Amino acid sequence: MKKLKVNAQSAQYDILIEKGILRRCAQYITPLVRGKRLMVITDTNVAPLYLSTVLNAFKNTDFIVSTHIFKAGEQNKNLSTVEKIYDALLENDFTRKDCIIALGGGVCGDISGFAAATYMRGIDFIQIPTTLLSQVDSSVGGKTGVDTAYGKNLVGAFYQPKLVLIDPDTLDTLTDHYFIDGMGEVVKYGCIESAELFEFLENNDVKENIEHIILECLKIKADVVAKDEKESSLRMILNFGHTAGHSIEKLSDFSLSHGECVAKGMVLITQASEKLGMTQKGTSERIASLCQKLNLNTEIPFSIEDISDNAKNDKKGSDDKINLVLIEKIGNSLIHTINKNDFAQFLS
Ligand code: GLY
Repeated sequence: MKKLKVNAQSAQYDILIEKGILRRCAQYITPLVRGKRLMVITDTNVAPLYLSTVLNAFKNTDFIVSTHIFKAGEQNKNLSTVEKIYDALLENDFTRKDCIIALGGGVCGDISGFAAATYMRGIDFIQIPTTLLSQVDSSVGGKTGVDTAYGKNLVGAFYQPKLVLIDPDTLDTLTDHYFIDGMGEVVKYGCIESAELFEFLENNDVKENIEHIILECLKIKADVVAKDEKESSLRMILNFGHTAGHSIEKLSDFSLSHGECVAKGMVLITQASEKLGMTQKGTSERIASLCQKLNLNTEIPFSIEDISDNAKNDKKGSDDKINLVLIEKIGNSLIHTINKNDFAQFLS
């Protein structure tokens, strides 16, 4: 088993990575739960695949285990889904000592984490991520929340889980589309912090080495979160490729996957910073080649004007500035702040 510790300012917790850990999850969860109730929250895609495995793991324990299944999809990552979770917790008499288990991808982790952060002003929750994207990124670091009509993740809380259990076997049921989606975030980790990881991805088969890859990404994430849990400075580097990427995702009406949009965003911003002499020559080409190897399409389907207009309107940005994450070379990132109105010029 591989084990990492996340030493965030507000909480410390373990990440355990092991094939088959889903079947043994009760062993690791039981010592952490103060109450007698557990609720496994999952979605309509994941429930038929893994819910019974988790429920079986608790069969011979004293816990009263309930389940809540919501309709899968980003379009359901909203307050109405969270309200139904509150109702289910109340109907089942959950107290502040009880615990939520989020079993699924990023949407499930974000919604369940937000419900946990706000139900009775905070109950414990455990992440069991089942997609590559959630295993390498979203299940760790405590970003929880929902989308609103104005955009993604606009309502939420920083709220850390008590434990993250990662079973790489769950990736066996992931479609190519979702595996490729997760690889967008994996490439990001190599770009911002680890030339070794980037080279490893260039030279090795990713599926054969997925446990090693997950571990390397999470080492970076755990380190960044320990230094800057609330994203006041360093944590922004995790948004490399995301400024343009989010715009592209929105412009595509979310028909393009998040990871693919991040890949496009990484190449676009690096082409620009390379032209401006801020990035080692050849870097954007290297990122594009790696993305191509991983089946991540990096063509930009929208105009620079549309992409920059969308980024300017991002409600999470500050009034007139955008913090751009750039890389000097593979493995070294920096934050470069510009006026929102200069973003189109920067990209072109
Ligand atoms: N996914 C970026 C972060 O957790 O900060």
